[in-house]
Amino acid sequence: MNQPMIDIQGLSFRYPEGNEALHNIDLSIQQGERIAVLGSNGSGKSTLFLMLNGLLKPDSGCYCFDGKKINYKKADLTALRKRVAVVMQDPDSQFFAHTVYGELSFGPLNMGLSRNNAAQRVEEVSQRLNLANLLTRQPQLLSFGQKKRVLTGAFLSMKPDVLVLDEPFAGLDPQHATNFRELLDRLHNEGMTIIQSTHDTGYALEWADRVIILHEGKIMEAGHPTVILNNEAMLQSFGLNRPTVLDIYAGLPLHLQTYSAPRNVEELKQIISSI
Ligand SMILES: Nc1ncnc2c1ncn2[C@@H]1O[C@H](COP(=O)(O)OP(=O)(O)OP(=O)(O)O)[C@@H](O)[C@H]1O
Ligand SMILES: [Mg+2]
Repeated sequence: MNQPMIDIQGLSFRYPEGNEALHNIDLSIQQGERIAVLGSNGSGKSTLFLMLNGLLKPDSGCYCFDGKKINYKKADLTALRKRVAVVMQDPDSQFFAHTVYGELSFGPLNMGLSRNNAAQRVEEVSQRLNLANLLTRQPQLLSFGQKKRVLTGAFLSMKPDVLVLDEPFAGLDPQHATNFRELLDRLHNEGMTIIQSTHDTGYALEWADRVIILHEGKIMEAGHPTVILNNEAMLQSFGLNRPTVLDIYAGLPLHLQTYSAPRNVEELKQIISSI
C-alpha cells in the first residue's frame, strides 16, 4: 500500500468546557479515496473535520499529512490549509469578503497567484458550481444553498488535494444536489481525495469507497459500504438507518441474495428483474 495522504494515530480531543469530543481516533486515508463519515448528532464528525486542516489541535495522538507530522506552527498550518480544504457545515462561519467574486478569488490571490490567474480560477469554479450570476452579490445575503455552493467554490479555487465537506447536501435543492454529485464525481476522477459527512446512508452506499461510523467521539466501524451499511442492528444502535436499497435486498428470496449487494436502485432493479 502507498503512504497514506492522511494518517491519524491515537488522536483525542476535549473542548475546553465540554466532554471529550474525539477519543483515540486511528484513521488512514489514501490519496483519491472517497470517504463517507456517518454518525448521529454530536458524534464528533465536525470536530474530526476541524482536525484535518489543523483548526483544532489534538490533546494527544498525532496527525501526519502526506508523510509529514503536523507540528501546529504557523508555517506548517498555512501549508496544510492549502492542501486540505474543509467546507464547514454552517457557511456563514466561513465568509469574510464583500462579494462572491472576492470570496472565490481570495484563496488563489493569497497563495500568490497573479490577478489574471486568480480570475481564471474564479471563472473555472463559477462554471463548475453554476455561480456566474452570483459573482457581484454579497455572500451573507444569499440563500443557504447558494452560500454552500459559494463556499465550496472558494475552497476549490485553491485546487486542494483533499476536499472535506461537512454535510454538503443539506439545503441543496434536487437539481443542485444532482449537479453537486456530478461535480464530486469529476473531482474524484481528477484524483482528489474527498471526505464528507452525511446522514443519508443510501447516498453513502452509492458514493463512498469506505464508510466510517463515529459514535460518542470514537470510530466504531470502518469498511466497505455494502458490508457496513448492511448491518441493520449495528446501524440502529448508533442511531442510523440501513439504506432502503439494502432493506429491500434483505427481503428478497434467499437465492437472489447470492448476487452481490446492490449499491443503488439500478443495481437492485437488475437483481429483481432476474426473478
Ligand atoms: N465549541 C464547542 N465547545 C464545546 N463542546 C463542543 C463544541 N463543539 C462541539 N462540541 C461537543 O463536541 C461533541 C461533538 O460535536 P460535533 O459538532 O463534532 O458533532 P457532529 O457529529 O458534527 O454533530 P452534528 O451531526 O449535529 O453536526 C458534542 O458533544 C458537542 O456538544
Ligand atoms: Mg457536525
